[in-house]
Amino acid sequence: MPQIAGTFDAYLNQAVALDARLGAAARVLLAVAAAAVEMTGLVDLGRLYGQLGASLASTNTDGDVQKELDVLANDMFVGAFRQAPVAAVVSEEMSEPLVLDSAAQLAVAIDPLDGSSNIDSNVSIGTIFSILPVLAKANGTEAHFLQPGRMQIAAGFVIYGPQTSIVFALGNGQTQIFTLDRRAGRFYQAVSAPVIDRESAEYAINASNYRHWEAPVRAFIDDCEQGTEGPLKRDHTMRWTGSLVADTYRILLRGGIFLYPGDQRAGYNHGRLRLLYEANPIALIVERAAGIATDGLHPILDIVPSAIHARVPLVFGSAAPVGLVARYHSDPQFSARAPLFGKRGLMRL
Ligand code: F6P
Repeated sequence: MPQIAGTFDAYLNQAVALDARLGAAARVLLAVAAAAVEMTGLVDLGRLYGQLGASLASTNTDGDVQKELDVLANDMFVGAFRQAPVAAVVSEEMSEPLVLDSAAQLAVAIDPLDGSSNIDSNVSIGTIFSILPVLAKANGTEAHFLQPGRMQIAAGFVIYGPQTSIVFALGNGQTQIFTLDRRAGRFYQAVSAPVIDRESAEYAINASNYRHWEAPVRAFIDDCEQGTEGPLKRDHTMRWTGSLVADTYRILLRGGIFLYPGDQRAGYNHGRLRLLYEANPIALIVERAAGIATDGLHPILDIVPSAIHARVPLVFGSAAPVGLVARYHSDPQFSARAPLFGKRGLMRL
């Protein structure tokens, strides 16, 4: 028998006992975990349940075709938030914020099913969430959501993979990973306070967009590919799952850097990922695990959102390579192309 670690409920109770102001956020986390158990049941069944990956006639706020599971997941999580102290929800699957209990203290931004193009491939998918305190005086519901990610009171994601795990940070706490014991239907602590390695030679990027990238990103990836023969003087390896939660989970446990930069494709100048319910929660758990998350240069958590579905370039993971990417963006010596390449070989990292 595996060793039974502490339960999710016990962790939350302890956090609330230390700081009663976290009580409402803890209730939202319990609602996320309950919906995640239900989601796991659906994802586990896959095609036995039906055409979960089947496309519907509708598109979401991203213009992506909605899949049956996207819509089911949205209904499931919104239903769970109706039982929690949630004033309003912003979801990737809904163009406008949904008001639930206007007297409640928290606002939740959620991507109910991230990576849904992977459903039929049996690759890990997830739910990403961000919990914000509502503003005392807000000019309309959207205003509650237009706060920098630093204001998040809790955030994280659920990954539905070989294991279902909830990865989160609550209050000022470090990142925690709790894994679902499917037999018991409960989450138990799997990894307490993971620390992302400072150095890593593993990068994750959709390299098919190479020709669309700006010079700093191209130069960084060129230099990774040059390995020991280039200025980074180290062989690198690459991983890209096409599922943000899976790439994040891997980076939490074994380091690495993830990049979804802005590029020159129409509609991609700020990248693909959404600030409120993708970048902000990932940035919080990465920072609370000793990593860094930026838009290439600036910390993600300091960005004031311009709109609820705004996109942002996202670079996160091990502190050393993420810091290096910022230097490629800020110092022309780093991003200069041939014939300056020879000089880049001389730069001090
Ligand atoms: O936001 C959706 C998402 O599927 C992420 O999970 C993933 O990191 C990214 O998009 C993959 O994008 P692309 O298909 O452009 O590689």
